[in-house]
Amino acid sequence: MAPISGDAVSPSNTRVGWIGTGVMGQSMCAHLLNSGFTLTVFNRTISKAQPLIDRGAHLAQSPFAVASQSDVVFSIVGYPSDVRSVLLDPNSGALAGLRPGGVLVDMTTSEPSLAVEIASAAAAKGCASIDAPVSGGDRGAKNGTLAIFAGGDESQVRRLNPLFSLMGKVNYMGSPGRGQFAKLANQITIASTMVGLVEGMVYAYKAGLDVGLYLNAISTGAAGSKSLDLYGGRIMSRDFEPGFFVNHFVKDLGICLKECQNMGLALPGLALAQQLYVSLKAHGEGNLGTQALILALERLNNVSLRPSLTSTT
Ligand SMILES: NC(=O)c1ccc[n+]([C@@H]2O[C@H](COP(=O)([O-])OP(=O)(O)OC[C@H]3O[C@@H](n4cnc5c(N)ncnc54)[C@H](OP(=O)(O)O)[C@@H]3O)[C@@H](O)[C@H]2O)c1
Repeated sequence: MAPISGDAVSPSNTRVGWIGTGVMGQSMCAHLLNSGFTLTVFNRTISKAQPLIDRGAHLAQSPFAVASQSDVVFSIVGYPSDVRSVLLDPNSGALAGLRPGGVLVDMTTSEPSLAVEIASAAAAKGCASIDAPVSGGDRGAKNGTLAIFAGGDESQVRRLNPLFSLMGKVNYMGSPGRGQFAKLANQITIASTMVGLVEGMVYAYKAGLDVGLYLNAISTGAAGSKSLDLYGGRIMSRDFEPGFFVNHFVKDLGICLKECQNMGLALPGLALAQQLYVSLKAHGEGNLGTQALILALERLNNVSLRPSLTSTT
């Protein structure tokens, strides 16, 4: 990406709006607040926005109200239907409240076709829209080390870099929707990595290894991964709190499979991982974190790693 242009945003010239203060949004938004940006926030459940309000963010009653007080509006909600509702609803949505020249930045993992639709609707109002989904988990959000995949107008992405850089590293991927396509490819890679991680653990267990020792040993070798770093320790301590919700991963993998169908593409690793994650939902585990995949492998093999979890990673 070319260097940042002279009219880059700063706390003195840009009011920021934020829609969705859940696991990811709350931490990401806090970085902007800490850097002196004026922030207006909206969340469906107000209590989840309270920590930000306590630190100086203004609370708005709707996405429309956020946008009417902001120059740049970020969103990170749950599903594509939520994105459509918070951005495109003609009465309460952010685009309806945004002034010409304003920018929407949707960081939800969502459908590429919806990102294209939002970009067209924004352009028709004299506004801009960037799809900018992220990867790096709840820790990446907390530490400001997310990978951000941006689609849309490149000069806008450059202009917004001072905001993106507070959350992580922005990668410009191309026209509207390409940020989402990059994130979906990212999810396809993570899906099989997670399957490999928990399969290795079950194998190590059956072979009589100390599973914690095994994870420590592989972490600096070729089988080391961000998934192992993020989730190995949580699996070892049977901590299945999200993190990254199983329900959201099933959503992502479903979008990936739909896109594969459109492209005439066969990705058997993706399909297998999706089925295993759907089995977690079937067991009522959709609100656990994605590290709960170990439970599916334990059920499949009628084993429980719990007694062997003596070491920590
Ligand atoms: N967690 C991760 O590690 C991670 C990593 C990368 C990407 N993502 C993606 O980022 C998105 C958010 O993930 P998250 O973990 O932050 O989920 P989350 O904790 O459920 O946060 C989503 C937030 O958006 C709000 N929201 C959802 N739908 C809404 C609607 N229709 N109107 C108003 N507010 C709405 C929710 O409100 P309520 O509080 O009322 O539920 C919640 O506070 C998902 O698309 C996910 O796939 C997550």
